[in-house]
Amino acid sequence: MNFDLDKQILIEENKQGPFELFSSWYKSAVNNEINNPNAMNVATVSTNMQPTSRMILLKEYDESGFIFNTNIESNKSREIESNNLVALNFHWKSLHRQVRIQGKAVLLSDKKANQCFNDRPRESKIAAWASKQSELLPNRKLLNKRVHYYENFFSNISVERPSFWSGYKVIPQYFEFWWDVKFRLHYRVVFNKNKKKWDKHMLYP
Ligand SMILES: Cc1cc2nc3c(=O)[nH]c(=O)nc-3n(C[C@H](O)[C@H](O)[C@H](O)COP(=O)(O)O)c2cc1C
Repeated sequence: MNFDLDKQILIEENKQGPFELFSSWYKSAVNNEINNPNAMNVATVSTNMQPTSRMILLKEYDESGFIFNTNIESNKSREIESNNLVALNFHWKSLHRQVRIQGKAVLLSDKKANQCFNDRPRESKIAAWASKQSELLPNRKLLNKRVHYYENFFSNISVERPSFWSGYKVIPQYFEFWWDVKFRLHYRVVFNKNKKKWDKHMLYP
């Protein structure tokens, strides 16, 4: 039996908190994934208790939370407005690792949303104006028409952030780090926030 001693030392015996461990895994993902190491699944629950999940790009993170951007008139945003408890899931295939996070999603300040918007290429800014995310689109022509309209509209001026484009910071309450070990003897390490400190324990695979 292979007990994967290296992994054991890395996640079981060290004194790292969840953010240090996340940063270390995220760095490895950035160095190893062929694309989008920042792709994560975001799960929300509707008012009639129907869960929905979709992939989103993590914009940035620090110890205060995980930020993503989106149209705040989209389905996901409507669900978050009625229930801000969400779950995130990162799966890094090349590393054979998963990180699951649960927490509360909080709308970004205008200042932060502007900063995120300004980081985007001009074409993506135009696309944000043109898209009524999650609404019915009768045909692609209409979307192209809307893109051209906003290209003309902003032709000689900078593209400002539409009021319906912002994002959320997910403030974590729970982390689970999962690392593949041969024969399904995987590591599962959980951090649960208890007042201001993080309790750490392991789970059976
Ligand atoms: C890899 C990947 C990254 C994505 N990143 C984003 C993102 O950062 N923001 C976003 O609103 N949608 C993103 N999407 C699209 C969403 O998965 C989803 O289709 C869209 O947000 C509408 O979801 P909703 O109808 O549940 O609101 C991404 C999709 C993929 C596959």
